[in-house]
Amino acid sequence: MKIETKQLLLMGAILILGAVSLGKLGYDVVRVARAEDSLALGEAVYRDNCAACHGEKGDGKGSQADRLKTKPRDFTGGIYKFRSTPSGSLPLDSDLERTVTTGIRGTSMLAQRHLSQEETRAVVQYLKSVSPRFKNGKPPLAIIIPPKPSTTSSLISLGKTKYQEGGCAECHGSTGRGDGPSAKDLKDDWGNRISPTDLTLKPFKSGSNPEDLYRTISTGLNGTPMPSYADALSPNERWALVSYILSIATREKPRGMMGLVGEEVEGMQIDMRAAMAGMMGGRGMMGRGGGMMNRNMQDMRKDMIGR
Ligand code: HEC
Ligand code: HEC
Repeated sequence: MKIETKQLLLMGAILILGAVSLGKLGYDVVRVARAEDSLALGEAVYRDNCAACHGEKGDGKGSQADRLKTKPRDFTGGIYKFRSTPSGSLPLDSDLERTVTTGIRGTSMLAQRHLSQEETRAVVQYLKSVSPRFKNGKPPLAIIIPPKPSTTSSLISLGKTKYQEGGCAECHGSTGRGDGPSAKDLKDDWGNRISPTDLTLKPFKSGSNPEDLYRTISTGLNGTPMPSYADALSPNERWALVSYILSIATREKPRGMMGLVGEEVEGMQIDMRAAMAGMMGGRGMMGRGGGMMNRNMQDMRKDMIGR
């Protein structure tokens, strides 16, 4: 009788273990299948919305790249400008998702707000899949952005001093107009000419909020001559620089068609053409929710540049 109980218990244990590992196996299979589905979705989203600029293979050589002054990113190198992670490191998924949903102001990279959250996440996974850098490493944690001190005239004047001492003027010019002594011969890692930003002119590429500027100054912009000041300047000094920049950023870039700024106009033309092609093929921006072309221009503008 005792032995039977033991045997029963043993059988029970084996059954439970079996069920658990079968369940785990099932879970793994589902997880792999989901990842594959998401990559397939990401690839489709990419082909329809990104390839015209960024190229079929993600190498930045899209059919429209030639006409653009600020060149579309080559994703194969895994180098990203706009990150919350320290200089030189990989971006977080949330950094890439932010760029896709908010766009890069003044460039043809418009906010891709017509994409669902699932599509945005999937296309980001696809971008990562074209660069071996993401297979070999993980991004570090985001930098810490401490609370912003209140803006006072002494904070601004500390910023002004740090601006001259810290070498910002060398590139961005003594009055911030982007005309420093080194400005003319700068190149990015992809071999293209690049100009230091005119800091008196809004909007900035990765946003004009104090936190956006603090992030840029702290992390630098990988692939460009814009260095990181996380080691050279204390958090208070970096906030002082932010206050100083905001105090001189009093002008707005001229607005063209539909309030678009700089190469956003080219971006809109390219995106609209891609949408048309999608309509012909029954997919792309036209595929969802009645399609982009059925919406009025006001909605479209809101979708694309988020305002
Ligand atoms: C009309 C052209 C165009 C289209 C379409 C376009 N992009 Fe871009 N994209 C650009 C340009 C130009 C840049 C480079 C901007 C810069 O370096 O300042 C860029 C940069 C990026 C970056 C790099 C940001 C960084 O931190 O360095 C990401 C990510 C990105 N695009 C994702 C996408 C995705 C995803 C799509 C499609 C859903 C897309 N782009 C569609 C033009 C485009
Ligand atoms: C060696 C040259 C160089 C130095 C030094 C430099 N920058 Fe830059 N910075 C650049 C370039 C080039 C860009 C433009 C990057 C782009 O357009 O992709 C830039 C961009 C920026 C931007 C704009 C980011 C955006 O979202 O549009 C800010 C803000 C900025 N720099 C602040 C500073 C501050 C503050 C300092 C000094 C503490 C500094 N930079 C020092 C070259 C430099």
